[in-house]
Amino acid sequence: MTIQKLTETAEFIKLNSKTKPRIGIILGSGLGHFVQHMTVEATIPFHEIPHFIPPTVEGHSGNLILGTIDNVPIVVLQGRLHYYEGHSMDVVAYPTRTMATLGLEILIVTNSAGGYGEGMNAGDFMIIEDHINMMGTNPLMGPNIKELGPRFPDMTKAYDPELILIAEKIFRAQKTFFHKGIYVGVTGPTYETPSEIKMFKSLGGKAVGMSTVPEVIAANHMGLRVAAISCITNLAAGISENKLTHAEVTETAKKVEQKFCGFLKEYVGKI
Ligand code: HPA
Repeated sequence: MTIQKLTETAEFIKLNSKTKPRIGIILGSGLGHFVQHMTVEATIPFHEIPHFIPPTVEGHSGNLILGTIDNVPIVVLQGRLHYYEGHSMDVVAYPTRTMATLGLEILIVTNSAGGYGEGMNAGDFMIIEDHINMMGTNPLMGPNIKELGPRFPDMTKAYDPELILIAEKIFRAQKTFFHKGIYVGVTGPTYETPSEIKMFKSLGGKAVGMSTVPEVIAANHMGLRVAAISCITNLAAGISENKLTHAEVTETAKKVEQKFCGFLKEYVGKI
């Protein structure tokens, strides 16, 4: 990653869209239909964007979409890159850095996650309060690009407390049950062993997933305010007797998609 590449990518997007986004949203699996709530100005497939790499996972189409929701200018990543696809962390964080370069103030990250917090059920939502990076690496490894941010970024409030409060208020107003907690980020692509889940629980975690951590680190590095919401698509390994499947994950995500989209739409209007 170089600042020159990033500038080339951002310039290409600016040539294709007049939208100057204030908020960026990364849509997790099964949330792709959120764009139906937008007034879309431009849809740019990842493969057309210089230095972008298309995602390979089922259920993740790759588009960068610019437009508005209730007149708020936003940019949406429909599909994301995962570390388990074999990309470097730098590549995984590239679309986030691109969005930040467009001038964002706030990034909203969504994901699917396995839940192991008390009282969790498939289909619940969790506002992420903090994360534990179990990926064994970090997107900021390597020379620091000082135009983007500091060598040693503070992560004390990686998830903006004010944005967390607003998310809580909206969930309450919509009478949607939610949790708040710590997300543990792992590489995948295997689901966890029951022992790993026991360990994450003992560390204070409530959900586990294979994304989000790289993007949240890159966004914090570049000074964005970040919020992240998990859809608990399944109970984590060993919490229920069921075998974990990707089909269960996408099925649950689809079931709650409308609710999740309703939340997000409101959220964009209130932050
Ligand atoms: N583990 C890791 N990632 C996930 C899970 C899980 O149980 N569910 C959805 N993404």
